[in-house]
Amino acid sequence: MEALAMKNVSSHCSIADIDDYDLSKLLDKPRLNVDRQRSFDERSLSELSMGLNRGSVENFENVYSPVPRSGYSTPGSSSRLSFEPHPMIAEAWEALRRSLVYFKGQPVGTIAAYDHASEEVLNYDQVFVRDFVPSALAFLMNGEPDIVKNFLLKTLQLQAWEKRIDRFKLGEGAMPASFKVLHDPERKTDTVVADFGESAIGRVAPVDSGFWWIILLRAYTKSTGDLSLAESAECQKGMRLILALCLSEGFDTFPTLLCADGCSMIDRRMGIYGYPIEIQALFFMALRCALAMLKHDAQGKEFIERIAKRLNALTFHMRSYFWLDFRQLNDIYRYKTEEYSHTAVNKFNVIPDSIPEWVFDFMPTRGGYFIGNISPARMDFRWFALGNCVAILCSLATPEQSAAIMDLIEERWEELVGEMPLKICYPAIESHEWRIVTGCDPKNTRWSYHNGGSWPVLLWLLTAACIKTGRPQIARRAIDLAETRLLKDGWPEYYDGKLGRYIGKQARKFQTWSIAGYLVAKMMLEDPSHLGMISLEEDKLMKPLIKRSSSWTC
Ligand code: GLC
Repeated sequence: MEALAMKNVSSHCSIADIDDYDLSKLLDKPRLNVDRQRSFDERSLSELSMGLNRGSVENFENVYSPVPRSGYSTPGSSSRLSFEPHPMIAEAWEALRRSLVYFKGQPVGTIAAYDHASEEVLNYDQVFVRDFVPSALAFLMNGEPDIVKNFLLKTLQLQAWEKRIDRFKLGEGAMPASFKVLHDPERKTDTVVADFGESAIGRVAPVDSGFWWIILLRAYTKSTGDLSLAESAECQKGMRLILALCLSEGFDTFPTLLCADGCSMIDRRMGIYGYPIEIQALFFMALRCALAMLKHDAQGKEFIERIAKRLNALTFHMRSYFWLDFRQLNDIYRYKTEEYSHTAVNKFNVIPDSIPEWVFDFMPTRGGYFIGNISPARMDFRWFALGNCVAILCSLATPEQSAAIMDLIEERWEELVGEMPLKICYPAIESHEWRIVTGCDPKNTRWSYHNGGSWPVLLWLLTAACIKTGRPQIARRAIDLAETRLLKDGWPEYYDGKLGRYIGKQARKFQTWSIAGYLVAKMMLEDPSHLGMISLEEDKLMKPLIKRSSSWTC
């Protein structure tokens, strides 16, 4: 930890400094089984701070080729192709462009769904921060960074608003879940309304929005080489405000972030209150991204030190207590309970009888994953796709854990992928448990929506994780599945059923992140160098302190 802090106290901080990478490792064993093998992280990192050195190194041509970068990414730009683009790609770009939202003539985001057939709009006509991420990545990969910059600046302005729920004032750093642009054709004015949770169903503030904002700021910087945005006073302040919220001291005994139910992509009651994996993985990633972007001025330094300490503790906690594999499950199964003092093996006093039956069958001999949640006497053994994929991308998972997560996906393909990638969580909760956990939520019935539904948007995260772990063939298999139905079905928001065979009961059509997620997956697979935007190599100074087998005894 100290070493990590020191590493960043050196005079000139740049985004490039933090992304440590090990070129020799990559050269030793080629990890990618795809044509263009050079990963973004292989590039000399100083290049970024020096500006775009296009042409100076032959091999980097793919990374810095003129706009659009991905040969097949826009209709009409397919001349550089060595193979025919899938006909869905042109359709997807068209649909993505239809979803653009403008503020005073400038594109600032994409609406959640462009579904005219649906009788109720609810808030699907808004720009959601989390939904915009795959759109933003698609535009960045296609060499169109302006919309991403506009979005980052617009949401930053919204952060500065005073946010209230009834008489209660929210923390300064909170970022909105979504916003909407209202056009007044008579007065020719545009105004923005934002939702920080005060209109959202359940009135929960989105904890993930601020994290996604920081992650996107890094993606923009990494993709364009434009350091000026991240280094601007507004962005530095925006980051500090977000960090102040999640690094504040309280009564916590764990380095993980305590959350209300419904504070992330799963924005309804689903029993994820406590320390949900989705938020912990995004928290970890945002901390690492911020560490790379914060300036080393007086205010920045204070946060840099706090981040370094938190990352150190968070890494240990997550890698040891959230990790589950066959061996660990067997250990928990044999736990003694009511242990007191520092020598306790069963630190959280988990009662073995609380282990659900399904997990014994589900756990393969080869493979493992980060469980959904852990707090005193409570382990949520459910698998959550987003948290596990993000854990791979930001290297919260060790290389061994990352490989084990991919093994699990392969071993449990039918359960986790089925006929439409990818299950948001596994398994679904049913009957009495569903009543208690969801509060009888009719939208979250078993194998539907957030309760075991299949979400095409998750395809981009799976693909990124596959590329990072050197298993592009898994991504290809998943993309092939999506291609058999997505366009034909009108880009649904989610699918229902154990295998994800049915278009979701209340799924929107032309859901923007289903469209953008598909494009991002395709572009990344075609040109894996794009991965660098959204991936962080393992920090060598954060080596696992423990080995899996001894995790509960040290
Ligand atoms: C639903 C999803 C949420 C998403 C929103 C807009 O509320 O649960 O994750 O951001 O729709 O698509």
